[in-house]
Amino acid sequence: MDGDVRTASYEADPAEVRRVLLLYSGGLDTSVMLKWIQEQYGAEVVALSVDLGQPGEDWEVVRGKAERLGALECRVVDAREEFAREYVLRAIKANALYGGGYPLFTALGRPLIAKLAVQAARETGCDTIAHGCTGKGNDQVRIEATVATLAPELKVIAPVRSWRMGREEEIEYAREHGIPVKGGTEVAPYSIDDNLWGRSSEGRWIEELDREPEDDVFGLVTRPEDAPDEPGYVTVGFERGVPVSLDGERLEPVELIQRAAAIGARHGVGIVDHLEDRIVGLKVRDIYEAPAAAILLTAHQELERLVSTIHQNQFKPALDRQWAYLVYAGLWWEPLRGDLDAYMDRANEPVTGSIRLKLFKGSARVVARESPHAVYDQALASFGESGGLFSQQAAPGFIELWSLQSRMAYRLREERGGGE
Ligand code: ARG
Repeated sequence: MDGDVRTASYEADPAEVRRVLLLYSGGLDTSVMLKWIQEQYGAEVVALSVDLGQPGEDWEVVRGKAERLGALECRVVDAREEFAREYVLRAIKANALYGGGYPLFTALGRPLIAKLAVQAARETGCDTIAHGCTGKGNDQVRIEATVATLAPELKVIAPVRSWRMGREEEIEYAREHGIPVKGGTEVAPYSIDDNLWGRSSEGRWIEELDREPEDDVFGLVTRPEDAPDEPGYVTVGFERGVPVSLDGERLEPVELIQRAAAIGARHGVGIVDHLEDRIVGLKVRDIYEAPAAAILLTAHQELERLVSTIHQNQFKPALDRQWAYLVYAGLWWEPLRGDLDAYMDRANEPVTGSIRLKLFKGSARVVARESPHAVYDQALASFGESGGLFSQQAAPGFIELWSLQSRMAYRLREERGGGE
């Protein structure tokens, strides 16, 4: 086929594509793709939509659209529970933030979506998996790495990488093929991806780094300026590193994450204007709205700090960072991630207790903490008269020994005339 150059072993040979499992969102790209695959490959298409808690999605509408466009079948899988338990909770235990600000919601969702695509492809006799990612992003990496890892027998096609249609041509193709196009066609929409854990927007003015975010980008979080004038409070209860309650009410993970998101969104919490290094070399700016993550990650990190020693607290962030990087980089199935999870589970054993946050016009600040495992003794730490069991008289001896090598080395350097 025109423009079809295969460079990787898992890419499909057009002549051998008979039935394709298409990861279908219901948007323009994947709707055009649904027709285009039938036309260009003479292949059958099975559509799969995965519910990861995208707010406001009507899956029956998505299913109906896929069927009208000629899908043999359109499956909608509710994967919210699995996403929350097996992906988001692990991310919380690892305090997962990439580049200091991105809570990885998209990156966490992709391996699960791709795993479910593999399952559905096998069940419906598909030979190929198709997705709507471009050739410039991380998502192609996450999806294709997952398919190639879990199902070496399946092939992949990524039409957006090869079809050379811009938005204009896609809309034209859609018109010609009776594909409904939502909204105005003059202004390209933001490129949005969302799930339970957050929402990202890319494109349009976001690509101009010197421009301040325009209000219409915020689809989830209230603008901090418009948030309530009275602060809100939320207390997050944890057991072994897992959030289990909000304000004392026990909740299952999906419900808990959704409620935390709603409270945070109301108070303008979780907006991140993020300049990001993609794994494919580009830098990109994303506008993230992740209110649940802003609350739950902040609370988790604080509780972990309270129950861990100085040495654990010095060490774990390096592993957290590695965890986040692997997940960002599309290597969910890499054994190192599992090794790190074993550490995360172990380190989270004492992370039980609760953290109270004050939410106010965009900020989420810890104001109170308690844990039965706190490595903290108020009597020792106290500035009060007695000084408790902590011997202040012992401090100078400590300082003398603690600084010994540094003092010696400093003097030697001075003698060599090196200065600092
Ligand atoms: N930059 C983020 C990532 O690589 C988010 C990408 C989400 N995609 C989108 N079309 N908004 O995970």
